[in-house]
Parts: sequence; structure tokens; C-alpha cells
Amino acid sequence: MSRPIPENIIEEIRQRTDLVEVVSEYLKLERRGKNMVGLCPFHSEKTPSFTVSPEKQLYHCFGCGASGNAFSFIMQMDNLNFPEAARLLAGRCGVKIPETNQVERKKEDFKENIYRLNRLAARYYAYCLNNTEPGKQALEYLHDRGIKQETIEEFMVGYAPSDWQGFFKFARKKGAGPDLMIKAGLVSPGREKGYYDRFRGRIMFPIFDISGKVSGFGGRLLSENEKSGPKYLNSPETPVFDKSSILYGLNLAREAIRREKKAIVMEGYTDVITAYQAGIKNVVASLGTALTKTQARQLRFQTDMVITAYDSDIAGEAATWRGLAILQSTGCLVQVADLPEGSDPDSYIKENGAGAFIDLINNATPLMEYHLLQMKKRYDLSTDRGRMEYTDELISILLSEINHVEQNYYLKKAAEELGVDEEALRSELKKRQRWSNHYKSNKQGNEPAGGGEQSQKININPAEKILISLMLQSKEIAEQGRTILKLDYLSDSRVKELVESIWKHTENNDTAAADKLLNQFEDPQINNLIGEAVTDPSLQDLPPHTAKRMAEDCINKLYKVWAKKQQRELQKKLKELEKQGADEQIEELLRKHQDLLRIKDDSPYRSGKGGDIDG
Ligand code: GTP
Ligand code: MN
Repeated sequence: MSRPIPENIIEEIRQRTDLVEVVSEYLKLERRGKNMVGLCPFHSEKTPSFTVSPEKQLYHCFGCGASGNAFSFIMQMDNLNFPEAARLLAGRCGVKIPETNQVERKKEDFKENIYRLNRLAARYYAYCLNNTEPGKQALEYLHDRGIKQETIEEFMVGYAPSDWQGFFKFARKKGAGPDLMIKAGLVSPGREKGYYDRFRGRIMFPIFDISGKVSGFGGRLLSENEKSGPKYLNSPETPVFDKSSILYGLNLAREAIRREKKAIVMEGYTDVITAYQAGIKNVVASLGTALTKTQARQLRFQTDMVITAYDSDIAGEAATWRGLAILQSTGCLVQVADLPEGSDPDSYIKENGAGAFIDLINNATPLMEYHLLQMKKRYDLSTDRGRMEYTDELISILLSEINHVEQNYYLKKAAEELGVDEEALRSELKKRQRWSNHYKSNKQGNEPAGGGEQSQKININPAEKILISLMLQSKEIAEQGRTILKLDYLSDSRVKELVESIWKHTENNDTAAADKLLNQFEDPQINNLIGEAVTDPSLQDLPPHTAKRMAEDCINKLYKVWAKKQQRELQKKLKELEKQGADEQIEELLRKHQDLLRIKDDSPYRSGKGGDIDG
């Protein structure tokens, strides 16, 4: 739990932060009229519908409905909670957040200490590799593998000598405590007493986070037939090392990924190092595990095109596929490069050269296509059972990861493959879709992707939407609304709350109303509504008198909708009273609701009015 940040600090961050700048760090924005637009980072799309209003400091996606301000943008993109996002923005714009909570502060300090110790360890291992007798053999091994000295330095590759306390003693001398060394995963307590180094007799690959801090290490046995543990040994989980959220090499690759507009994902340290050395610098490794959501997001921030170059034996594995599907669902175009069996990028580049590897990358197969090929190999399509299983798997994929255009494309392809009617497959898909929707709607706590699957949909009339938009854009109109609009005219209690809040802000002579409102409402439906309302391109830059006129029209319309409903209820009551012969009460009701009965205009409600009311 993070401590709360004082309201005035939040306000300062808000004022100093430019949403356009923040968003631009994640995606490309282009000017369109008063707004900026780009490809939505929250769903997969080909034409930009993600709209940022520089003036309002809000974004809204007309495709998926995601809405919010700089805070919520960072929260969603970086998977942070509000205080974390605020901290990040504070750092960007130079606002200092006062430390109030000792515990939090200690935690941060502790992490810093681990980073510092890791850095020390990386330097120690590098020194051992390059300048000591035991390191000679390791250095030779690396050179033999074709890794040049400058590459070794760039990746800060090192060697952990095989004596049991080399690092421990070194770090002690430098003043580090055993406890910190243990927490950093560099040292383990001995069974009886004392401490020993975790990494011994291993080539050391420091694992940097995106900003270049040493988070942890991967250590490779110098000789594979040595019987001293696994081929690769990683740092354990520590407060700064979470294997599932780190991509090896990203700190060095980031620039190239952005330049090339694509990232190549590999499996291992040596793959990345060899490719990088060969001039293919947009490379990262997922460290022997399938891609996780966090890793996928990190990649997605850099580019929307990812090509995997996995060893062929793991490329077809279900876990691998899932990882890639996750990546695709963040909106990345994912392709699979087909390496010949038994080779990895490291060996392939060494044998065939960088050019040949780049050819492989350029000829990569789209993920779904690749998967269809794999499925065809896996199932025997000449049997009913094989075809059924193929269909089942196909539909699962189409439902979970693929957008509609692709859905149709692959449905067609699969139908051809199976020799069945496309419509038959489609109806199967629909059946499953209904079922999964049903499942979703019964499931609680699903992560909202900015759209509100779990909050109840707002039943809102277009006139309400327009009016809210106009009121958010002009204080005069909000004022006008306050004097003539009754909250009763509004359809949804949450909309009422919103309008009340707008008025409250107007009263306080507040300008940043919309932005503040976003932080105030937790309901994603309301936040979407706010976002949509302030960014709606058709309502920007209206001349004041037009806006005023439109607002009046909206209020009139809302009044009429309300009145129509009242009339209907009145009718019902009157009919009942008629049945009971309660003439007196009928008269009273008619008198009381004269105004309701006298509404005259040409709007549809009039024609629907029952004759029994007019008399
Ligand atoms: P070289 O054999 O030196 O070329 O390394 P490599 O990267 O080709 O190794 P391999 O293809 O066997 O494994 C790929 C990646 O999986 C490695 O870079 C590691 O990140 C991970 N890995 C492999 N073996 C192990 C292991 O025994 N333990 C752990 N934790 N990870 C491993
Ligand atoms: Mn290898």
C-alpha cells in the first residue's frame, strides 16, 4: 500500500503535466483540428480513434471507450495504482512529493541498496572476468564463441569465480551487510554457519531494467558437463527482480526498436548478445519463459510490431503461443520467424550471417497463420475427432485474441482447410461467443480495459450527452443548465450525480472541471461519458450563441422526454381511476397536471398521447 499523496501536490502535478507529452511517449499522435489522434494503445485498431484533447487534458477512444487523464493513462499503460502513477508523473515534471510514511521510505531505500549492491556485484564479476587468473578461461570461452571484447563490456558480462566466498568477502570489505547480500540473492546462508556465494564458476549476465539498473543476474555454467547445478542459474525473486516482468536487453534495444519500429524477441542471453553484436540491435530476450502480460505491455510501449525468433522446439509450445497471443491482444502485430530445427538466433547468425537472419525476420509468418499451420500438423484432419479438436482450438483462439477483421479472415481460411462451410464455423463461433459472454457477465472483478464491462451500462439519451458536453466546455452553459434543467429530467442516477458535480464546480468558478471530475468518479461508464463528452469533435469550437441554442434545445428535449413519461404514468393512473369510477380524484389529477397536458409541439411524444387525456 502506498501512502496517500496530498491533494495540493496532485493538483500541482496535474498542472505541470501535459497529457500530449505523456501520451506521445507511448504512441504517435497527429493533430486533427483541436485534438490529437493516434492508434489506441488499449485495443487493437488500424485507424486512429484515440483522441487527446490538449486543451482539456483528457483522452478518449472512440473505438473502445477508454477515457481519462494523464493519471489514468499512466495507470493503465504501466499497470500502476493511482499513487504510483502520481509519483511517476511527479518525477517527470519535477514535483517533489513529501515523504510522510516511514515504512514506504524504508522500502524504497532498501530497493536502492539492492540496486547498489547489484551494481557492485556486476563490477566485481566483470573485473574477475577481465583481470583475474580464474577469469581467463571464461574470457577465452566467450571469445571462442565469437563475442567481442567491446560487446562483453557493453553487456557488462562477467565471471563468478568458483571459490565459495569471493563475492561475499569482497562485498564485506566494501561495507555491505550479509543480510542485504542475501536479500539481493547474491549470497546464501551456509547450512551450519557462514555464507557462500550463490553464483560460482559461472559466466555472469547482469540483467538490467529498462533504465539500466542491475536488477538481477543470469549465470551460465562455464562448462556444460560440469555437475554443479543447472546450465543457467538466475537471481531469485528479490524486491527488484521479477523475472516475469523483465526483458533482457531492453535497456540497450529500446532506441533501435523505436527506430526500426519492430522488436525481435528471442529466448536467451547469448542470442541477444550475438544479434546485437551483428548489428541487429532491436532484440530482447524473455529469459527462457513464455512472454507474460507485463512483458507484453513493455514491448507494446515501444512498438506495435514484434517478431519472435524462438528455437523451433519451443516455438510450438502452448505456453509460448499463449504468451504471444497475450502480446497480440495488447494490439501488437506478432509474427513468428521460422528458425531451422536445432538452431537458435545465436547459432544461426554465426553460421549464416546477419543478412540471412534478417531475411528470416522479414519472412516471418503472422502469428495466427503460424498457429493454423501448427494445428494442421497436430491434428489429423481426416478424422472427425481431429477436425472437432481443430475447430475447438480454432474457436478458442478466434474468440480470445483476434479482432473481427482477422476473425473473418481466419474463419474463411480454416473453413477451407477443413473443407466445411464457412457459415457452419461461424455459427459455432457465435454459439461459443454467447456462452463466453454469459460467463463474463457472471464473473466479477474482471480487469476493466477502460471500458466498463462490469459496471452497469448507462442508459443515456443523446441530448443528455450533448448537454453534458456543452456544460463541460462552457461555464455559461453550465450556469444556464443549472437554472432551467431539473435533475429529474435525467435518466440515470449516475448522470444526475455527474451533472450536479459539474454545477458544483461551476459554482466554485472552477475551470478544470472535466479533469477533476474524472478523478472523482470511479464508475468507468461515467468516466467514459466525460471523456467522450469533452472530446466529441462535433461539439468543439462552436460559436457561443450556437452552443447556447443547442443547450436550450437539449434541455427542452429532455423536458419533453420526461414529460412524456409523466404523461404515460398519468394516463395509467387515470385509466385505473376511471375503472373505479373515482371522478373526484380524476379531476384533481387533471388539475394538478395541467401543465403536463398542455405541452404543445411537434415532437413524437405528442402523437402518442392518448385521446382520453385531452378529454
Ligand atoms: P547457450 O547454450 O550458451 O547458447 O545459451 P542459450 O541461450 O542458447 O541456452 P538455451 O537455448 O538452452 O536456453 C535459452 C534460455 O533459457 C537461456 O538463455 C536461459 O535464459 C534459459 N535457460 C536455459 N536453461 C536454463 C536453466 O537450466 N535454468 C534456467 N533458470 N533458465 C534456463
Ligand atoms: Mn544458444
